[in-house]
Amino acid sequence: MRKHPPDKPEPSPFAAALLAQAGGVATVLALAFALAQATQLGFWQFPLVPALTQGVAAALIALWQRAPRWWLPIHLGFAPLAVTVYGLDIAPGWFLAAFVLTLLIFWRTDQSRVPLYLSNRRTANALVALLPATPVTLIDLGCGLGGLLRQWAKARPDCRFVGIEHAPLPCLIAQLRTRGMANVTVRHGDFWPEPLGGYDFVYAFLSPAPMPRLWHKACAEMAPGATLVSNSFAVPDIEPASVVEVTDRRATRLYLYRV
Ligand SMILES: C[S@@+](CC[C@H](N)C(=O)[O-])C[C@H]1O[C@@H](n2cnc3c(N)ncnc32)[C@H](O)[C@@H]1O
Repeated sequence: MRKHPPDKPEPSPFAAALLAQAGGVATVLALAFALAQATQLGFWQFPLVPALTQGVAAALIALWQRAPRWWLPIHLGFAPLAVTVYGLDIAPGWFLAAFVLTLLIFWRTDQSRVPLYLSNRRTANALVALLPATPVTLIDLGCGLGGLLRQWAKARPDCRFVGIEHAPLPCLIAQLRTRGMANVTVRHGDFWPEPLGGYDFVYAFLSPAPMPRLWHKACAEMAPGATLVSNSFAVPDIEPASVVEVTDRRATRLYLYRV
């Protein structure tokens, strides 16, 4: 298997998903044509039938593409759901509004491969317990709604906390929630160009996809002795300096790497 360069983003799965859907449509069109030739059967009379056929074909193509398993129900259900919802006669503006809202919350998850989910209070406390008694600087890569920054900043007013978030709505919420906190800065943007040399702790709660690239960046930029803390997602093939087990319901693990 071709290895992906560790300093580049993982390719977006969007193109493959589009290809599977297009393959499903092509299959349905070919079937409709063949059936019309052979039997004069009205394939389009019951729109759910071609929609389901398209879904099955798209899911099979995704299987052939070796897409992660969770793509299969999405491919299977997309066209049938679209046909069903179309039948409900909902004004198109609602779909546009839902699309814009989703975009504002999740931004380009197809590229980052990191959706929005939040670290919990116990995890925030576990991280505070790791900080030394002397003042340090910490960055939350993809700070979401800023809840962690708020909690850390209250617990350690002597430390400086920075968050970077590229999704517009979560970033705005994080900025509003931390306004007036002198030791917190929340910036809107992409964290990949952010130099990590000035931080004692780099916190990331991302997904498995960007971890090799993050490790590459950390090794290139972080100061000796600085710590990379990854919530839940280990860096493949790299032994962490230690692992902190948080006593929360999802049994969170914090992977600590010394660069
Ligand atoms: C799993 S959430 C974690 C939120 C927060 N750090 C926490 O632990 O509660 C990951 C966040 O990273 C953001 N994100 C992903 N890639 C990003 C990037 N390249 N630049 C800035 N933010 C990014 C996502 O929008 C999402 O809000």
